[in-house]
Amino acid sequence: MGTDSTSKTAMDEFLDGLLARMTLAEKLGQINLVTSNVPVGDNILADIRAGKVGGILGGLDKISFGVNGPDGLRPAQEAALQSRLGIPLLLAFDVIHGHQSVFPIPLALSCTWDMERIRATARAAAREASASGLNWVFSPMVDIGRDPRWGRIAEGAGEDPYLGSAVARAMVHGLQGDDLSAPDSVMACVKHFVGYGAPEAGRDYNNADMSPTRLHDVYLPPFKAAVEAGAASAMMSFSAVNGMPSHADAELLGAFLDGVLKVSDFDGIPELIAHGLGDEAGQIDEADPLQTLSERALRAGVQMDMMGWGFLTRLEKALAEGRVSQDQIDAACRAVLEAKVKLGLFADPFARFDSDRAKRDVLAPEYAAAAREAAAESCVLLKNDGVLPLSKTLGSIAVIGPLAADTRNITGPWAFQGDPAHSVSVLDGIRAAVGSGVKVRHAKGANITENRRMVELLNFAGPKVEIDPRPPAEMMAEAIAIAQESDAVVAVLGEAAEMSGEAASRLDIGIPDNQRDLLKALVATGKKVVLVLMHGRPLTLPWENDHVPAILATWFGGHQAGPAIADLLFGDKVPSGKLTTSWPHHVGQVPIPYDRATTGRPGNALEDPGKYTTRCYLDGASEPLFPFGFGLSYSHFSYGVPQADKVELHGDDVLNLSVAVTNAGPYAGQEIVQLYLTDPVASRVRPSKQLRGFVKLSLQPGETQEARFTLTTSDLEFHDGKLNRVWEPGRFVIGIGPNSRDLQSLDIRWNK
Ligand code: BGC
Repeated sequence: MGTDSTSKTAMDEFLDGLLARMTLAEKLGQINLVTSNVPVGDNILADIRAGKVGGILGGLDKISFGVNGPDGLRPAQEAALQSRLGIPLLLAFDVIHGHQSVFPIPLALSCTWDMERIRATARAAAREASASGLNWVFSPMVDIGRDPRWGRIAEGAGEDPYLGSAVARAMVHGLQGDDLSAPDSVMACVKHFVGYGAPEAGRDYNNADMSPTRLHDVYLPPFKAAVEAGAASAMMSFSAVNGMPSHADAELLGAFLDGVLKVSDFDGIPELIAHGLGDEAGQIDEADPLQTLSERALRAGVQMDMMGWGFLTRLEKALAEGRVSQDQIDAACRAVLEAKVKLGLFADPFARFDSDRAKRDVLAPEYAAAAREAAAESCVLLKNDGVLPLSKTLGSIAVIGPLAADTRNITGPWAFQGDPAHSVSVLDGIRAAVGSGVKVRHAKGANITENRRMVELLNFAGPKVEIDPRPPAEMMAEAIAIAQESDAVVAVLGEAAEMSGEAASRLDIGIPDNQRDLLKALVATGKKVVLVLMHGRPLTLPWENDHVPAILATWFGGHQAGPAIADLLFGDKVPSGKLTTSWPHHVGQVPIPYDRATTGRPGNALEDPGKYTTRCYLDGASEPLFPFGFGLSYSHFSYGVPQADKVELHGDDVLNLSVAVTNAGPYAGQEIVQLYLTDPVASRVRPSKQLRGFVKLSLQPGETQEARFTLTTSDLEFHDGKLNRVWEPGRFVIGIGPNSRDLQSLDIRWNK
């Protein structure tokens, strides 16, 4: 048991030996992943000692699975070592954007387009989580999200597979480090395989139907990237794609997740019953449907059952009756054990319980500094009529809104271990930035929402959204009075944290009506109003864009969002984030990804497409309000003419491109330069353009730098109707510019 060699042969020998000594019950215990609410026996520690548990999803009550302290999970690991074979546990948790130190939500982080920064946030999270004994995190979520009604768009990297793949790699590298067995590394779990981000009508858990080419070109690439980067585990998706839930999808699991530990989502196998799924022949054990579906999931390739209980309790019968094989059970058990070997758990099951390191690492000041940088770089300036940056010599500022003094929502969804006591609000961030010379006054002005149904649902799992007992009119009057007496107004409005994340779909993706009413009243005062948005999804802002002079999208920026936002508002930092989702002007436009294919009736001018065209809605524009890749700066960047080192290419040639970018404005700043590729004539209808490169430049005022890009034929590839990856010779158009809309293009020919 002492070996920890990860060299294939030594590991195989070790695993062969271990498996040979295991009973069937012990093997089924290994492929069982539970929280502390275990129905098999009241006492989870007894179940662990009895070898019925392979891993724990931590964070719950009973035996203080609080994962805050370095010793919170220790009793569980001690119990595992007391089991007959002393096999250590996988100790898992949802560590999504930081652990005790909370970083911006993943969708926000993606707007930095800075892979090193994203990697570093994941590394910090891994160090904190592992110092508490955790060795497995259910991250990254790499689901492509193209429907802002879907609340879980907050947890991913937006709508684009190229950028999403880069983020997936960065996250895996950050979480797993260079060596998965190191005590400060955790096993990544790429999720949710696959197509979970495409639920019909944006309703969470809903199914999706899509062409196989779309699945392969858009939804699968980030999973491939994560697996290639070494992600050692993957989680299934609750939804069915093209009629097949991933928990039963033998074909896709076999094709894409070989060598990766495949775990069900929470209760995902029992939920196949409600899906109406039977076995491969459409039959079910009516007296015990979980029997049929646990067998089917194992046969499909699922190797660990999270809170489904069927692997533990049904597979013995399945084996006896010949519906699953010993090999299938052994392969699943081996995958779990292999993960444990790779994590170094057999060599030292307690290496990650290190109270000295916890003292150094947990809430380390450098993580707070990194969180502040990350939060600032995540923000996207959507509009600025010259109001920003604000001067620190204003006499007075009114900081208004239900999210202005907030320290809880600011951490966003999936921040279970992020104590709001460590959050700095926007109000406090502003106060600290301007010092005592500026009078800063605050009023809430409105509740987050007055929609009682929503409040009830948001508070479903405990009180989250407070409703002020004062009448709304009184709150608004107080805010307006303060605004009228101030030189500038910062309105901090948007969503509650629970309005995005899991089970948080919305029909209307605007600022809640009562907050918009407050905003209208603030604008009507005639004061300069800066709208600071907090949100987990793209929002619709047509009125705001027409009437508010400055709009800063800040997402849920984490513990240090307050100071980071203040840094931007007062020009100590310059906004540089760019959107990784298209923002519609109306929810009726969704989905509206930038890469949608052109049609036979594309229409002419954007503003006036003509009636019988795809672009035409009778009652409004069809283009997004803010396109993918968009974001403003306080500075201004001018682009030279894009250059290519060749315009005729053959076979394996490499194309080098560049564009000179000059900071023509008064502030040092950063510009994210983007390259898009169009294949104007192909054997199938292709996307109108696809991101194929990006470069983030830092430029002093007056400075010019070249953004350089390299393309190879792999950038031209797509899946044909038979799902082969191909590229087709001919003309290609390359567009380079500051966002997906405003591009300068050049033509090349690439022949075989
Ligand atoms: C979510 C997963 C999560 C799991 C464990 C599920 O409801 O879909 O993303 O990792 O719960 O908390």
